[in-house]
Amino acid sequence: MELDIIFNKSCENMSELPDKSVNLMVTSPPYNIGIDYGNKHVNGKVVGSKGVKYSDSLPEEDYRKMLKKVIDETRRVLTDNGQIWFNIKNRYDGKQVIPPFWVMDLFEGMYLKNLIIWNYDWGGSTNKRFAPRYEYFFFYTKHKDEYTFNLDEVKIPALNYRPDRYKSQLKNPSDVWRMALVSGNEIERTNHPAQYPEELIERIILTGTNEGEIVLDPFMGSGTTAVVAKQLNRHYVGYEIMKDYIEMANKRIEKNSNNKILNLFGHEA
Ligand SMILES: C[S@@+](CC[C@H](N)C(=O)[O-])C[C@H]1O[C@@H](n2cnc3c(N)ncnc32)[C@H](O)[C@@H]1O
Repeated sequence: MELDIIFNKSCENMSELPDKSVNLMVTSPPYNIGIDYGNKHVNGKVVGSKGVKYSDSLPEEDYRKMLKKVIDETRRVLTDNGQIWFNIKNRYDGKQVIPPFWVMDLFEGMYLKNLIIWNYDWGGSTNKRFAPRYEYFFFYTKHKDEYTFNLDEVKIPALNYRPDRYKSQLKNPSDVWRMALVSGNEIERTNHPAQYPEELIERIILTGTNEGEIVLDPFMGSGTTAVVAKQLNRHYVGYEIMKDYIEMANKRIEKNSNNKILNLFGHEA
């Protein structure tokens, strides 16, 4: 199996990956909310780009079918003690909020270990409802209790630490993660419209895998998962339909491969 590669094709079929070959999958699929993933527009119509054209406004049924194929494939390639971290957020259809809990059907037979709330500070403004400022990570395992969970690797300082009460100055980070989106002036920022912050993926990969293991991101985008996997001495495999993004990701991976120090309280890999 080829490692440390992003395949330029749709992840609905991952025939490049053998059964039970991947330890952890983390991904942020397209949200189907009309984001422009590099397509060119002429008179308001999508006319394609250098890579394969992708529309982020699929009919709802097609969108769900596409995600089902991807999760079925992921299940096939995941080791028996493997895990999935699936990022998605609420949508607003112009009238009301549509929560994404229908995705739970895709993971039937797996075990939901956490529903993480990822909270950040900025985004679109709203006048007649509170501004949406969080997304979800659904954390599923294939086995009910045999899975990697390196809690000590990701503990955070306990602000209310009292030596008379607590054994450690570090604590479990909980299921609410407050981490900033990547802002325009940060070094890690690319021009991908939906880039993950590296510290978010760092926490997930450190918790759910050990060195030398394999991380899959079926919707690789600007390559954040790959960059962080390499920095933490893990392998990555991924898929991305837009060729331009793969070029961007490969450049980013090359540039960062010697940089072992990441954001999360200066943890050194
Ligand atoms: C939400 S973005 C992922 C962003 C990524 N987490 C990052 O940090 O840059 C989703 C990506 O999936 C790609 N994509 C959409 N449909 C795909 C498919 N069927 N197979 C592979 N990639 C796809 C889009 O081009 C887009 O770059």
